Amino acid sequence: MKKALKWIGIILGSLIVIVFIVAYVLISRWDSRTEKKYDIAVEKLTIPGDSMNIARGKRWLPLCQSCHGEALQGKVFFDDPKIGTIYSPNLTAGNGGIGNKYKDEDWIRSLRHGVNPEGRPLVIMPSKDFHHFSKEDLVDLIAYLKKIPPVDNIKGQNRIPAFTKILMQLGAFGEIISAEILDHKAEFQIAPADGPTAEYGKYLVQLVNCQECHGKEYNGGKSPDPNSPLGPNITAGGNIGKWSSEQFMKTLRTGTTPEGKVLNDTFMPWKHIGQMPDDYLTGIHAYLHSLPKKETAKLN
Ligand code: HEC
Ligand code: HEC
Repeated sequence: MKKALKWIGIILGSLIVIVFIVAYVLISRWDSRTEKKYDIAVEKLTIPGDSMNIARGKRWLPLCQSCHGEALQGKVFFDDPKIGTIYSPNLTAGNGGIGNKYKDEDWIRSLRHGVNPEGRPLVIMPSKDFHHFSKEDLVDLIAYLKKIPPVDNIKGQNRIPAFTKILMQLGAFGEIISAEILDHKAEFQIAPADGPTAEYGKYLVQLVNCQECHGKEYNGGKSPDPNSPLGPNITAGGNIGKWSSEQFMKTLRTGTTPEGKVLNDTFMPWKHIGQMPDDYLTGIHAYLHSLPKKETAKLN
């Protein structure tokens, strides 16, 4: 009896040691990925300061607001007692913001390559999606960002428990280090002519990355946010199949679908997507309707 207990003790003890070693290895791998230095050959672009460019750049503001706040002043981007707290940085030139420090090449490095001015990879910031911006659109966006009104807001300290680092290392939240997966030498994409077309809708859908939450084939997916409901099927096989482009637009402007479902803005950023001009939402609707009609993916 004593012998058996001793062996159980040894086995349990060894298991605990193994779990600690695995956890340690996963955490240090995560840390080394986020501390890695990237030396990026940033594209040389001239950022004009005229009002035309600034006005055109403002079109893209909704793509940033859901994470960086209405005035891009930075905010608590994610907060969960178990998983941790993550702040998004203040992008303005106010106190605590990056606006005064950033040079043109820093904006390009962050937005297009997902790397900060010190060469550290940005985490969560979706540069892998913004990499799809055409050269002209990126230039306009930066022209606008350089002119946003300063707001004082000092970024809080992120709290990322060891357990969350393990989950991140295991890929539980998806590809959250854009710098690792981007082809940093790729040419700029050419944007189609802007208008209410499926072609332009496709361009927009890449920038917002509807697939991240609605699935690779748009027929349903799991959002990277562990607290989120499933992303519904947005091919013609889902509710959208029955919606006219006006109904689609109304859904994204009001957050209520023709079926009467109220969409939660914390998980489905309709308040920001819905700020896009009519033509753009019409284009997105046309693109989604041009996709193969799919049955809803089986997810659990
Ligand atoms: C899904 C949420 C999300 C969206 C959308 C998003 N960001 Fe970010 N962004 C973040 C987070 C989180 C960080 C902090 C990353 C870090 O420090 O590792 C960040 C960092 C940045 C940085 C680097 C700041 C620094 O400290 O050097 C810039 C610049 C930036 N974002 C600009 C933008 C712009 C412009 C847009 C819209 C076109 C945008 N972001 C959209 C979440 C987001
Ligand atoms: C960050 C994750 C995320 C992104 C990005 C996202 N969605 Fe969603 N979407 C959701 C979730 C989650 C729901 C379900 C919300 C709920 O149940 O409250 C949803 C619901 C919807 C609905 C309602 C569908 C129905 O049948 O009721 C539509 C339409 C929609 N999204 C369109 C889009 C489009 C178009 C894009 C890209 C331009 C997009 N979404 C980007 C997460 C996302």
